[in-house]
Amino acid sequence: MNRYIMKGGNPLVGEVQISGAKNAALGILAASIMTDENVIIENLPDVRDINVMLEAIQEIGARVERIDRHTVRINASTIHEVSVDDDYMRKIRASYYFIGALLGKYKSAEVPLPGGCNIGSRPIDQHLKGFRALGARIEIERGAVVAHAIDLVGGHIYLDVVSVGATINIMMAAALAEGQTILENAAKEPHVVDVANFLNSMGANIKGAGTDIIRIRGVRKFHGTEYSIIPDQIEAGTFMCGAAVTRGDVTVKNVIPKHLEAISAKLLEIGCEVIEGDDEVRVVGRPRQHSTNIKTLPYPGFPTDMQPQMAVTLALTSGTSMITESIFENRFKYVDELTRMGGNIKVEGNVAVIDGVKGFTGAQVVSPDLRAGAALVLAGLAAEGFTVVEGIGYIQRGYECFEEKLQKLGAVIELINSDKEVNKFRLKTG
Ligand code: UD1
Repeated sequence: MNRYIMKGGNPLVGEVQISGAKNAALGILAASIMTDENVIIENLPDVRDINVMLEAIQEIGARVERIDRHTVRINASTIHEVSVDDDYMRKIRASYYFIGALLGKYKSAEVPLPGGCNIGSRPIDQHLKGFRALGARIEIERGAVVAHAIDLVGGHIYLDVVSVGATINIMMAAALAEGQTILENAAKEPHVVDVANFLNSMGANIKGAGTDIIRIRGVRKFHGTEYSIIPDQIEAGTFMCGAAVTRGDVTVKNVIPKHLEAISAKLLEIGCEVIEGDDEVRVVGRPRQHSTNIKTLPYPGFPTDMQPQMAVTLALTSGTSMITESIFENRFKYVDELTRMGGNIKVEGNVAVIDGVKGFTGAQVVSPDLRAGAALVLAGLAAEGFTVVEGIGYIQRGYECFEEKLQKLGAVIELINSDKEVNKFRLKTG
């Protein structure tokens, strides 16, 4: 089994190039099947979730051609299936974007229902409510969402909860519906805007993405496009926390600083230096950093996907911090692992109370999900001695070359796959 081994204690120092945004790419890849013409997508992150999505696109009959590591050409004129295989849904929840994409283009889709997930219950009722409002008939049959429409017709939709997935999914279907759709209480995340920009580059008429009212005027069909995906806000934020927790000095390059403001603000509050450039942000950690409180909220609030990395950062400050998780109810699973490294965190419902400690000590820990896995790696890099993080399949779903990027910043970390290699690493770095 693959795992990361690291020897903590080195501050992360230097520059790191941030890859394309995974969550934007998942929506954009699904949307790319909505035209029969060629679509070229650049700045795709080379991570597992994206590669699974590309396989799913091929599986329903589209042609996918890799131009280079980060660029693909997709041609969906050969699609012969509106039914997506269960395997893909099990591997990536975001294959629910095929419902909106297929329904918009073919007025028909059959996609397995996403199962439970390890960060909490994740219903898709708002997605389905939106499709129904556009005139689709939705049934749940044999564990799948089966959607059909004679004609999709624009409508007025008010989301009961702010949902990134529902906003993107409904926007895709509505973009090829007849007439105007008004989507209220929409999510404002940077990747919602990126998917809207991508659809517009194919000929869609979407206005207001990035605000809470999105107006979509349906068009008859889309044409080909060439599009470059925005940088990954969460990957950038993870390295920014890496600088803070190891008391290092890291510049994240190729980012949109505006997307990082909620993270930058919290790092400033705890005493880090944060210097913004046009397309970079430099974070300098300080020996004494102090506590603060955080509540996760939809964008522009503090992102839930940065909650574990920030908790690890706060666990090594002076004072008591409080984190309120308001998006997903089961996102503190890493706390027990962090306790084994010396962290002092108590969880009560959706609130974690973090009493800062002077340092962590290395331990063998298991990554419970993607972002928590990355957070445990940051903890290991700040800890005294050796840390082994297992279950890193999760991390590889969303971070491109995580260990290589960390090594370039001075981290002593390796990807290994046997116990023998643990000893070798210990002897080598002793
Ligand atoms: C997306 C991101 C994920 C991030 C999350 C919140 C992708 C592929 N994933 O997930 O990394 O953590 O946004 O920023 O972009 N909800 C409902 N009914 C619905 C849909 C959602 O009640 O139909 C609830 C959820 O349970 C959750 C909240 O709304 O409490 C937000 O979920 P949502 O924004 O939909 O998350 P995802 O799109 O699944």
